[in-house]
Amino acid sequence: ASRVTVPEFVSFKASGRKISMLTAYDYSMAALLDGAGIEAILVGDSMSMVVQGHDTTLPVTLDQMIYHAEMVGRAVQHALVIVDMPFPTNLLGVHRAIENASRIIKETRCQAVKLEGGAEQADVIAGLVSAGIPVMAHVGLRPQSVHTMGGYKVQRDAERLIHDALSAQEAGAFSVLLECIPAPLAAEITSKLRVPTIGIGAGNQCDGQVLVLHDLLGLTHGYVPRFVKQYAHLQQTIADAVVAYREDVRSGQFPGPEQQFDK
Ligand code: KIV
Ligand code: NA
Repeated sequence: ASRVTVPEFVSFKASGRKISMLTAYDYSMAALLDGAGIEAILVGDSMSMVVQGHDTTLPVTLDQMIYHAEMVGRAVQHALVIVDMPFPTNLLGVHRAIENASRIIKETRCQAVKLEGGAEQADVIAGLVSAGIPVMAHVGLRPQSVHTMGGYKVQRDAERLIHDALSAQEAGAFSVLLECIPAPLAAEITSKLRVPTIGIGAGNQCDGQVLVLHDLLGLTHGYVPRFVKQYAHLQQTIADAVVAYREDVRSGQFPGPEQQFDK
């Protein structure tokens, strides 16, 4: 199958095909997700937390995002791949935003960028779109503004959130991600927009869903938000495998006859 394109992704809304999206940060995981037939993969700046071990998404750099987007891009045959613009690469004016986003598109096999912001980022969204760079807007809880918002909280300012989503669409965003907003409000925004909404902690009336891969797989260290559903418990699986290996090495059971060369 060929790559999912941005227009195809948009058309899933009208055809009622729910969109599944997950994050990936490297080749082997991206290949697995793509092989499983997911519509979209996000190289999220959540990488800052789940891969790099920082306690916010703020420290990850553009060069680091590009390095990981290259790995994901090399793995993917089918999914639409979207890359987060890390803080503060979309906040330095339209010209700098185009410079930064175009590096992502030129240096990786990824097709679109995502940036946090709605109404107050409309000029940047419009600038990127006019440069031929598709943009997914991210409204609601915006983790890059954690210090302003005072933590990771459900966002309830309906008037502002509706305005953000509509402004992003009018500026040319091909999709709007809704993070941590009440389900009825996410449903209302979804019905008001022509472009697909992708929800995380935003109920099941969005046009699609996204989760952080490590949360879904049970690989996250520490706090897992309430909106996550864990479909596997790989931390335990991995720990069990490593303990079994350690015990086999200690007892001389590994390597056994099948794992060694007799001559
Ligand atoms: O960086 C990320 O993983 C995200 C998701 C929370 C959607 O933006
Ligand atoms: Na993000």
